[in-house]
Amino acid sequence: MTDSEPQLEARLAEQDSFEPPETFVEDANVTDPEIYETFEAEWPDCWERAAELLDWEESYDQVLDDSNPPFFEWFTGGSLNASANCLDRHLDERGDETAIEWVGEPTEEANRTYTYRELHDRVNEFAAGLRELGVEADDVVTLYMPMIPELPIAMLACARIGAPHSVVFAGFSAEALATRMEAADSSYLVTCDGYYRRGDPLDHLDKAETGLADVSHETTTVVADRLRDGDGFGHDLGPDEYDWDELMAAHEGATVDPVSRDAEDMLFLMYTSGTTGQPKGVKHTTGGYLSWTAWTSQAVLDVKPEDTYFCSADIGWITGHSYIVYGPLALGTTTMMYEGTPDYPEQDRLWEIVEEYEATQLYTAPTAIRAFMKWGTEYPDRHDLSSLRLLGTVGEPINPRAWKWYYTHVGGEECPIVDTWWQTETGGMMVTTLPGAKTMKPGAAGPPLPGVDAQVVGPDGEPVEAGQAGYLTVQRPWPGMLRTLYRNDERYVQEYWAEYSDTDSDDPDDWVYFPEDGAKVDEDGYVTVLGRVDDVVNVSGHRLGTMEIESAIVGVEGVAEAAVVGGDHEMKGEAVYTYVITEDGQAETEAFREEIVAAVEDAIGPIARPESVVFTPELPKTRSGKIMRRLLEDLANDEELGDTSTLRNPEVVENLE
Ligand code: PRX
Repeated sequence: MTDSEPQLEARLAEQDSFEPPETFVEDANVTDPEIYETFEAEWPDCWERAAELLDWEESYDQVLDDSNPPFFEWFTGGSLNASANCLDRHLDERGDETAIEWVGEPTEEANRTYTYRELHDRVNEFAAGLRELGVEADDVVTLYMPMIPELPIAMLACARIGAPHSVVFAGFSAEALATRMEAADSSYLVTCDGYYRRGDPLDHLDKAETGLADVSHETTTVVADRLRDGDGFGHDLGPDEYDWDELMAAHEGATVDPVSRDAEDMLFLMYTSGTTGQPKGVKHTTGGYLSWTAWTSQAVLDVKPEDTYFCSADIGWITGHSYIVYGPLALGTTTMMYEGTPDYPEQDRLWEIVEEYEATQLYTAPTAIRAFMKWGTEYPDRHDLSSLRLLGTVGEPINPRAWKWYYTHVGGEECPIVDTWWQTETGGMMVTTLPGAKTMKPGAAGPPLPGVDAQVVGPDGEPVEAGQAGYLTVQRPWPGMLRTLYRNDERYVQEYWAEYSDTDSDDPDDWVYFPEDGAKVDEDGYVTVLGRVDDVVNVSGHRLGTMEIESAIVGVEGVAEAAVVGGDHEMKGEAVYTYVITEDGQAETEAFREEIVAAVEDAIGPIARPESVVFTPELPKTRSGKIMRRLLEDLANDEELGDTSTLRNPEVVENLE
């Protein structure tokens, strides 16, 4: 007997754990629960299994070199090339299979499919083009592009010649681009003329050029052509700008031997937000990162070569790097890329794509799932989603109600859900269930993956009791970890290790990684991530630094001081709330409010757009003069105010309420 809709909802609402569906387990890549014990017993050699998923030119001598903590090194002595691992080695058996299935914004223009051979050829041609422009191994190439195939082509071309890429999310502002190019001392930029958003062409090159004007060194730019004739913005390329198609045509049929890279050589840099106004350049390496993304794609996303795997993230963030490009291509599967938004032309766009391409996995963000829930079940119900085998989420906590909605209305109760906790810095997944071997508990990401020693500890660094809130830590290194912050070893140690490590010690056991997340753990070892404990706001699964936003606001003439906090938001998870003190004589008008909002969009991008701007004569401050953000957060969340006794000026909060 099947349940009626209300009965089903009522039954599900009470259920707090779910077993992996049998149909999934039958064919899952990992099903043996013993894997946890095996990895524990074999650590760190267990990670050879990840390295074995790759082709090495020179095999490594040592799995882990922990002689200089926290500068851990993995697979030392080994050499390989990431582009060869994602392309060349698949050619014999899978050369004619699809590597990238690109779904453009719905226009009359055809979507594009790249077989492994075609992708290999385009990557070679672009690699030859980059060389001609002067790019050499270890030069940082900045890629400022939306979700078009030229982005993964450029990434793999960089990897092929040993030039680390630094992808800047296309939604970021000109200023954000300039800051990142400047920080990485990057002289090469690959970008495009524009792209479509909800059917309308957007000018992207204009933004890129505005950014370039603020870069203090000389630059060379390649511009891909995404807009169709007539939709262009009439750009004429300058002397330092090269047309993508011409560059490719000049190197048609070229082959470029993949450059042999040391396992520890940098594969890419990714700038992410932190506690200060200056973004952090997270450095990932060739051997450890690629092993980690391949292993987790196989064990957690259950990727198999014959799959059509769909991750709806943007490649401008780490999720797209690890789980659209490197992990899936290393495993030789078909990876999908969708250019548009889930609600255009209608709110069933993702389901239409899943049905049309018979996608086997869907990996998306809780913020998207909350939007799907709000739009209603009629949209997924219109489509046959039975090709799906597995669902995943990433980027922020997923509440049990959204989890169950996803499970029922998208997965048809036949797909396990992996709620994957990880960060830009971890390179890939760290805490989540193995979908073929573990019970799922909606709301909890899961136990740490085999071989990962994540623990929830109190301020003293000791593990907390089950059910108590504490701080998430990782007690042992792992191959996918960041190696340092680009050109800033000191900040690397300070930001991630100082809190819980004995920083004078040479003993690797004295070093503990701190991801700056709060968490709790239950009696079965399942971790529920509670959110950031630093000054980072997580808007729709994207990380923004409150300090970066504050510095944009105080840059507006007429602003004396500003405080930015994250507050709960029904759809976005968190949103940006700002409190602003104006200078004497500055009128607190709606127009001024808009000016502040525009300044934030200019400095960072529309994603950082403040939800509200509250003018206030004073900000709540401690006696030592620090802004009490916690109180502002309580205010933004309409919560009971926490302890105000340490305030220098308690009356301020009353006025703000
Ligand atoms: O707070 C955690 C949250 O996202 C942060 C990392 O953000 P970013 O580096 O941009 O990477 C996002 C994609 C991996 C984490 O510190 N976060 C990520 N995944 C989860 C999560 N919070 C709860 N549950 C998750 N599954």
